[in-house]
Amino acid sequence: MPRRRASQEPQLELIRGDALAVAPRLARHCAQLVYLDPPFFSGKRRRNTPRGPHYDDRWPGGLTQYLAFLRQLVDVSVPLLSPTGLLALHLDWRASHHGRLELDRALGPGAFVNEIIWAYRTGGTSRRYLARKHDTICVYAAGPHWKFRPQREKSYLAHRYGFSNITIHHDRRGPYTLAGLRDVWEIPALRGNQREFTGYPTQKPLALLARLIECFSDPGDLVVDLCCGSGTTLAAALKSGRRAVGVDHSAAAIELCRERLGL
Ligand SMILES: C[S@@+](CC[C@H](N)C(=O)[O-])C[C@H]1O[C@@H](n2cnc3c(N)ncnc32)[C@H](O)[C@@H]1O
Repeated sequence: MPRRRASQEPQLELIRGDALAVAPRLARHCAQLVYLDPPFFSGKRRRNTPRGPHYDDRWPGGLTQYLAFLRQLVDVSVPLLSPTGLLALHLDWRASHHGRLELDRALGPGAFVNEIIWAYRTGGTSRRYLARKHDTICVYAAGPHWKFRPQREKSYLAHRYGFSNITIHHDRRGPYTLAGLRDVWEIPALRGNQREFTGYPTQKPLALLARLIECFSDPGDLVVDLCCGSGTTLAAALKSGRRAVGVDHSAAAIELCRERLGL
């Protein structure tokens, strides 16, 4: 049963099924934020341990097959967006350029809001190129009056500036001001010894989803994740007073979400 508040409004719905089949059954214009974290076209079976949960990111039909999936995923997401709503597509160097073009096609280049770079440090580098340590989250709006709630971040001062009209704070790292949040987010990738780690492959950190949700929705709004995996988006949404719908075609993912979210 979906978790409900006293008002009987469902706070969380979990649906096991193919996103392409489930999304058209959801109410049109229901979502303030649709977050998509699909397979990245890595060509691998994603799993952390031999017996742990996994999902398949192999595409026998190559890029053509992957792009057909990505196109359909974007197309079933767009009708879910409320007039103030936004679609956030999370990919990496393998397909983020294709994803951006799909969003241009589906919503128009003028619907572009942000290209968020999530920068992290994980093991593994190459002798042949710079360490590839960022993902890209492209955010597009359903219409001209999208919701945006500006956030602030610490901006450490590299020099002694002569400003008199700004408040300078101090912490152990040094003096800083509070500046508007930029589109480059340095948030550590999850490690296996963290409490929030579920063992699900390519699980995203709660801090990343919490920030995205705070920027583009309000408490009470609905956040939809059509490839929800271990339920990170759902956990972040519920924690900050949003409602959430999570969809995944993997039974193991939905079971993990149930455990994680106390259902
Ligand atoms: C990158 S993982 C999501 C990880 C998630 N954000 C987290 O933090 O745990 C991608 C997920 O998409 C799911 N998936 C792939 N194709 C799908 C489809 N057609 N419909 C629903 N889920 C799908 C996989 O089962 C996998 O759980």
